[in-house]
Amino acid sequence: MEFLDLPQQLSAVGTVRLPGSKSISNRVLLLAALADGVSEVRDLLASDDTERMLEALQALGIGVESLGAESWRIRGCAGRIPVKQAALFLGNAGTAFRPLTAALALAGGDYTLTGVARMHERPIGDLVDGLRQLGADITYLGNEGYPPLQLKPAAIRPDGVIQVRGDVSSQFLTGLLMALPLTGETVTVDVVGDLISKPYIEITLAIMARFGVVVVRDGWQRFTVPAGSRYVSPGTLYVEGDASSASYFLALGAIGGGPVRVEGVGSESIQGDVKFAEALAQMGAVIEMGPNWMAARAPQGGLHAVDLDCNHIPDAAMTLATTALFARGTTTLRNIASWRVKETDRIAAMAIELRKLGAEVEEGADFIKITPSTLKPAAIDTYDDHRMAMCFSLAALATPLRINDPQCVAKTFPDYFSCFAAVTRAAPVIAIDGPSASGKGTVAARVAAALGYAYLDSGALYRLTALAAQRAAVAWDDEAAVATLAAQLPVSFSEDDILLAGIPVGDAIRTEAMSAGASQVAALPAVRDALLFRQRAFNTAPGLVGDGRDMGSVVFPQASLKVFLTASAEVRAERRYKQLIDKGFSANLPDLLSDLQQRDARDSQRSVAPLRQEADAYLLDTTALTIEQAVNQVLAWQANALS
Ligand code: DC
Repeated sequence: MEFLDLPQQLSAVGTVRLPGSKSISNRVLLLAALADGVSEVRDLLASDDTERMLEALQALGIGVESLGAESWRIRGCAGRIPVKQAALFLGNAGTAFRPLTAALALAGGDYTLTGVARMHERPIGDLVDGLRQLGADITYLGNEGYPPLQLKPAAIRPDGVIQVRGDVSSQFLTGLLMALPLTGETVTVDVVGDLISKPYIEITLAIMARFGVVVVRDGWQRFTVPAGSRYVSPGTLYVEGDASSASYFLALGAIGGGPVRVEGVGSESIQGDVKFAEALAQMGAVIEMGPNWMAARAPQGGLHAVDLDCNHIPDAAMTLATTALFARGTTTLRNIASWRVKETDRIAAMAIELRKLGAEVEEGADFIKITPSTLKPAAIDTYDDHRMAMCFSLAALATPLRINDPQCVAKTFPDYFSCFAAVTRAAPVIAIDGPSASGKGTVAARVAAALGYAYLDSGALYRLTALAAQRAAVAWDDEAAVATLAAQLPVSFSEDDILLAGIPVGDAIRTEAMSAGASQVAALPAVRDALLFRQRAFNTAPGLVGDGRDMGSVVFPQASLKVFLTASAEVRAERRYKQLIDKGFSANLPDLLSDLQQRDARDSQRSVAPLRQEADAYLLDTTALTIEQAVNQVLAWQANALS
């Protein structure tokens, strides 16, 4: 499985140019395809969902041409889809699946529409029922009420009033409304039940109007598409930035100091999710806005919890769930039943993952309640849901964390994590690598103390693994078994000792036997993998000094300072000799020297994470230096690195 490890972030400030809105992009593409005339669409979102729509349009014979830099030329078919038979794969793109179902069912042709497994679990029955009232011939190829679908040519009878439910997904009404001009007659849609996610209907109506079709409406209950309505290209169109995508950066500003400014959406946006800014303001954030931009910063005294009806911002409300981790009190997000039928069951997924971080969560059929606590590092699963990945990145302002399958953000925001990195500042790391007994442990611990940073003795983790294996009677070369032990190592670090299963280990990991065991288990790739996140979890505020063999090369390649600390083998053997004697162990200098040379060879010649000086590491040879001098040198380099 792929993953992305995020260190704890100290702050967030900066500006992000947003990618195009997913909702607007896919609506515009479909209407441009159905319109009379050629449209040029600029600032289109480049993502999985829009790719599925573009592919589908091409398969249907629509002229689609890339003009570079997120601009596309679409040759409209004036309501007559050229290809009458096609099999369309629409991935997990609800914004492609629902409107295409409606348009193709009314356009007349022989089409199959399929998606990924999750798409086949997302209901579409209410839309199909609406279309069948118009005479459409639609067959469920799998489960009743769900994709995949087969559409056949049928005599469409646009007679008067049809009914569609509006309380599961507003995309059914959107799909119907966008397709109705294809009938050429007057059709009225009555919404049954309470219409949810109303702002998305506003987007639909606004874009239809841009293409020349004005829907007559009676509140949120009744929508009429008049006879003779037809789509006409408006020429060139600019897609707004994605307001849901904006939510992550506004939240970052509200949590991490800010200001964080997003460009591409603002007070003149047609997207309902700009209302996220109001919700954030209710939590105390300081919000500013212009026609085409918004900015957020943290309030004095921090954010506080809210109790909110989120029906109008279903997608952006997910961002509130992780923002709640930083707010005093219990946040309740209500009226979010639609979360259960999105890319994943978002209420369940959110609850499971928030709990992993240590929050207290209560979930109901249509609400979630979050009470924060001190957050702890965790590996977050993303459920093939872009918003899960983006929401949970916010937690990095409190704790290091791992995001599994981070590439799922490609659904709507392929560059998300580089934009995230551009506006956040990670807790710095000083990586000190070097051979055994070079004095790096002593130097690293003192540098950490001087700077108030955390200290990671990574060698101790390998030593503990060797000790745990010995205690469990597992051989040091049994890779799978040692890796399992390493992954579950019940270790904690107290002020003056390391605890294994709650018991201080003292010098038990410092013996020559454990040095040899550590060197052996450290050569096993599965063991190194098992210990990777555990090490990265030390990368907390205000900073970290880590010492070992691969701090700069593997564990913290982004370190603000890398030092390769060494000394001649003879001097190291002497230092080790003194250390052992001081601790009351017996020792023999020639044996120590030869053991040291053997370990050096094994640590530097192994295939995984061998000990070597990185190209960007400073060399610090301590053969002729005192500890004090070595510490001062590292501190001077770090001051320089951070300036
Ligand atoms: O630094 P140390 O002597 O406590 O390390 C013990 C062993 O663990 C040593 O043989 C090398 C290995 N090690 C490693 O492979 N990678 C690290 N980051 C730290 C130690």
